[in-house]
Amino acid sequence: MIAADPPPLPPMKARLGDRGLFPDLEPKVYLNHAAISPMSTAARSGLMQAASLIARDGLGAFRPLLAQRGRLRATLAGLVGAESEDVALVLNTSAGLTALALCMPWRPGDRVVLFEGEFPANVTPWQQAVATFGLDPVYLPIADLARPDGPDFGRLDAALADGARLVAISAVQFQTGLRTPLGEIAARCHARGAELAVDAIQAVGCCPIDVEALGVDYLVCGGHKWLMGPEGAGFAWARPDKAAALVPRTAGWLSHEAATDFLFEPGKLRYDKPIQRRLGFLEGGAQNAIGYAALEGAVQALVEIGVEAIFEHVQRWHDAVDGPMSARGFRSNRAPDRARRSGILTWRPPDDLTAVQLADALERRGVACSTPEGLLRFAPHWPNALEEAETAIGAVDEALTELRG
Ligand SMILES: Cc1ncc(COP(=O)(O)O)c(C=O)c1O
Repeated sequence: MIAADPPPLPPMKARLGDRGLFPDLEPKVYLNHAAISPMSTAARSGLMQAASLIARDGLGAFRPLLAQRGRLRATLAGLVGAESEDVALVLNTSAGLTALALCMPWRPGDRVVLFEGEFPANVTPWQQAVATFGLDPVYLPIADLARPDGPDFGRLDAALADGARLVAISAVQFQTGLRTPLGEIAARCHARGAELAVDAIQAVGCCPIDVEALGVDYLVCGGHKWLMGPEGAGFAWARPDKAAALVPRTAGWLSHEAATDFLFEPGKLRYDKPIQRRLGFLEGGAQNAIGYAALEGAVQALVEIGVEAIFEHVQRWHDAVDGPMSARGFRSNRAPDRARRSGILTWRPPDDLTAVQLADALERRGVACSTPEGLLRFAPHWPNALEEAETAIGAVDEALTELRG
C-alpha cells in the first residue's frame, strides 16, 4: 500500500537479459521497445497498489498518490540529470510538446527549425504554433545529421544565422536509431541566441542523457517505450529560467500557486492567484495517478540496473545481429561510432522483400519487431537475453526461405 509518506516499492530483482519480470510476455523475442514496451510485474505492482488504494480510500488516496508522484518526478529528473522541481508530469510526448509550443513567448515571424524524416510528434505541435502565432517554419533534412562520415551542420548553421528562434529535434531518430548530436546542436543554437527543444522518448531509459551537460533547453519524454511504463504517463523538463518565461496559455486550476488551499480553508477561493512560474503549471488538472504509479514501478526496475549498463547490454545485442543481417543482404543503418548509436537498430531489407512481409513472417516465429518507413527495426531492451539474438537470426533465415518460396 502507498502510505501517507510512501516507502519505495520493494526491489523487484531486475537483471540484464532476464525476462522474469515479464512472465506473460507471449513473443519469444520481443524487439518492440521503440514502439510499446510490455508491462513488467514491477509496473503492474505499482499500478495495482495505486488502484487498490483508490478502491479502498477514494479521496483519501489523493495525498499518498501526490507524494508518490513527487517521488517519481525525482527519479525521472535523475534519469536526465535534472532537478525534480523542473519536471512536470505530462500524458505523452505530444501533450508535453504541444503545451510548450503553445506557451512559448513567441513574436510573430519567429523562425522554428524542424526536421524532415523525424517522427511527427516533434513537428505537429510546432506547426500548430506556426499557424496560431504567425511563425515561420524552416524544414531541414534529418539526413544531414546522419551522414556516415559525421553530421553536416551547414544548413542548420545557415538557419541559425538567419535568426532561427528554436530548433526542435529528437534525441534518437526513430527510423535509423541515430543518436542526435544534441550537445553540438545546443552549442550552435546558443551561440546564435536560439533554443533547443528535444523529444527524448527514444532515448531516456536506454541511452545516457544529461540535459545540463548537453545544454538542452526543453525535453519531453513519453513513458511507454524505453521507460517501460504504460501509455499516457510521461514527463517534461525545462531549464528553470525558460519555464519561468513561458506564457501559461494551457494553465488549469492546479497550475496556480496554493491551488488547493480553498479545499481546506474558508475564504481562500480566489481567481487571481498567480500561476506557478515552474514547469509544474503544466499539471493543470487531475492526474493519471494509476499510470504514474505504474511508471514508477517500471522506472524503478530500470534504475536498479542503471542506464549505462542497459546501453552496453543493448549494444552487445545489436553487435550479435548486425553482422549476420548484413551477411544476408540487409543494409544496416547502424552509426559507425558508438556515440551515435542507441537502442534502435534498423535495416533496409533485400530488394525482393518488404519489411512488412519480413516482420509478419518473423511474428509467426515468435519474434516481434516493427517496420517504420519500410525499414525492419529491432529494439531490444534490458530484459532481452543475448542468446535471443541467435533465435532472431534463425527466424530471419526461416522467414527468408518461406518468403522466397
Ligand atoms: C521520436 C518519437 N517521438 C514520439 C513518439 C510518440 O509520441 P507520443 O508519446 O506523443 O505518443 C514516438 C513513437 O511513437 C517516437 O518515435
